[in-house]
Amino acid sequence: MTPSPSDDERRLARLVRAHDRWRGREVFNLLASENAVSPTARRYLASDLAGRYTLPMATTVDGETIDNSYTGTRYTDEIEALANDAAARLFRARHATTRPLSGHLAALSALVPLLPPKSRLLAVPPEHGGYDGYAPGFVPALLGYSVRPLPADGPGHSVDPAAAVAAIRAERPDAVLLGQSFFLFPYPLREIADAAHERGALVLYDASHVLGLVAGGVFQDPLAEGADVVFGSTHKSFPGPQGGILATNRDDLFAQIDPALVWRVFDNAHWNRIAGVAQTLLELERVGAEYARTVVENARALGSALHGSGIPLVAAEQGFTRSHQLHLDRARLRRERGLGAGALARRLERQRLLIDLVGRVGTAEATRLGLRPDEMPRLADLIVRGGLLNERVGPDVLAWRRTYRSLRFA
Ligand SMILES: Cc1ncc(COP(=O)(O)O)c(C=O)c1O
Repeated sequence: MTPSPSDDERRLARLVRAHDRWRGREVFNLLASENAVSPTARRYLASDLAGRYTLPMATTVDGETIDNSYTGTRYTDEIEALANDAAARLFRARHATTRPLSGHLAALSALVPLLPPKSRLLAVPPEHGGYDGYAPGFVPALLGYSVRPLPADGPGHSVDPAAAVAAIRAERPDAVLLGQSFFLFPYPLREIADAAHERGALVLYDASHVLGLVAGGVFQDPLAEGADVVFGSTHKSFPGPQGGILATNRDDLFAQIDPALVWRVFDNAHWNRIAGVAQTLLELERVGAEYARTVVENARALGSALHGSGIPLVAAEQGFTRSHQLHLDRARLRRERGLGAGALARRLERQRLLIDLVGRVGTAEATRLGLRPDEMPRLADLIVRGGLLNERVGPDVLAWRRTYRSLRFA
């Protein structure tokens, strides 16, 4: 006899159902770090692959060399090859791997084999929009690196080419680690790469936030512009399941990176996730250019509508953004409206509009739902009324949200 579910199991089922309804159907998600996963990729996430191992690594057992520790893996190798080949095509790279389990682990996948302890990094500090993980107490502490600031004090934490080149010349790093959590504008990458390469430094580009835009041929093309390795999360502007991708044109670097993934950075690579990422890569090969273009057009249109209606944003003179992100001008918001970014986000959450508490607004998921640039004034109006004026717009948001029943670009 099958025992009946416990109270906690029933509660868990209710919570998951409630979450799915709330986040999948009843809010507009404007979190810049998230996206909606396509239905086919979701099916693969829930497939039998979810519980399986395969470890395609040569190892010796009792004097016999085997190329995989497991049996039952006849389909996984082909799934991985499909994923990696699609990633290489989409990122215009000679080599790519979809094995890293996240953006953070994709960074470690490059750093661990390429940079020994005591290496010196140059990275944008968190107070200028850099990723917290690259601050001294985190990845550098873990791997024994020192890190010095790459200046990003232009509009929207953008990097000025002369200041970047001067910092590279002064600091003489072993690697320049590009990529930011607050990421509005492309880097002057050729200048940075030339200065870094002149001094024998590697250029590593963390495209976590902009990976879907890079895939779609907008924002910038890191490998073509001089980065040695590009990597990032597969679930921010890239609309896949949570995971990581790494790509490079350098045979010598990939020969160091690929064999070092297993047993240094992780063990099993989660093959249901890789199947989901493969599906997303293949979908983007068909529709990724239009998706990426629309994400950025939506962001710029939402930027002008918000800014014009009293929600101050940074980089107005530069057209607000060339990515999927917009940044609240937190100082002006507080000065002119007496409101912090966190308080604004909490008010909006009550009205079914999600932005983060650190002042970023993103258009990737709204674009996947099918919102177009001419609908951005309507979205901005709801944000202004719900956030600035504290009006009860939740019912209007819900009614509008319900008209988007399926994902575009999927
Ligand atoms: C620039 C950057 N790199 C890496 C990460 C970590 O990504 P993940 O959550 O996929 O590990 C983030 C997370 O927000 C990020 O902003």
